[in-house]
Amino acid sequence: MLISLRQVAKAYSPNSLVLRNVNLELAKGEFLFVVGDSGVGKTTLLKLITAEEFPTDGQVTFDGIRSELDSSKLLRFRRRVGVVPQDYRLLKDRTVYDNVVIPLFFGRHGTNSPPVSFMGKGARKLVEDAVTNVGLPVKILEARVRELSGGEQQRVAIARAIINSPDLLIADEPTGSLDHDHTWTVMDLFQKLNLKGMAFVVATHDREIIRRVRKRTCHLSGGTIRVDDREGACIF
Ligand SMILES: Nc1ncnc2c1ncn2[C@@H]1O[C@H](COP(=O)(O)OP(=O)(O)OP(=O)(O)O)[C@@H](O)[C@H]1O
Ligand SMILES: [Mg+2]
Repeated sequence: MLISLRQVAKAYSPNSLVLRNVNLELAKGEFLFVVGDSGVGKTTLLKLITAEEFPTDGQVTFDGIRSELDSSKLLRFRRRVGVVPQDYRLLKDRTVYDNVVIPLFFGRHGTNSPPVSFMGKGARKLVEDAVTNVGLPVKILEARVRELSGGEQQRVAIARAIINSPDLLIADEPTGSLDHDHTWTVMDLFQKLNLKGMAFVVATHDREIIRRVRKRTCHLSGGTIRVDDREGACIF
């Protein structure tokens, strides 16, 4: 299993559990949607899967690695994961190029891709490919992030997450600021990358995406996974 959560509970403060009794297994190359009402704990669940947050109770295992037992192995695993945070977390005063190139600096460990020089021509080509794949023009690379629209910033965050060809991409409402056409540019890209073996966990509110993409969907409610719909057939 790529990711395994067993009897996981999460509280940010004593006596107020956000998640409880969460059991989830994600296989290599699998595609999973996470849905549920605002505030139900989707972002919290995704943060447990990226090891940004740790469980209050229970166990999270990353490709067989228990985070509390081996932090250096966990860091290496983390380099195989791309993340699109709900709030993008871009460096707003830097250029789009500077933001998208960052993961190359941390390395492509375990991604089955050859190493590239951070500053060299190879890096420039990877950055150009990443922004083109999310429907942004190459000329945007020289713009500062704070000059961009919300939807453009969201796609910069997606480009940054895919540039290292991660084994697992965790995307928190990755189309929340996008119009219909750009939403499908991104969803078509995700499906293409998934066919090549990249695993996905995508939190979304977009019913049209769930209806059309038809992948395994976990429905969160009351702090736990109420339905784990493996066929993606049940509309929420
Ligand atoms: N860092 C934090 N500290 C304290 N409470 C938090 C923190 N992050 C989230 N919470 C609380 O945990 C609950 C779940 O939040 P979370 O962001 O996981 O929900 P969500 O399902 O992603 O919501 P949305 O659809 O609005 O993005 C909320 O009640 C929220 O206030
Ligand atoms: Mg959220």
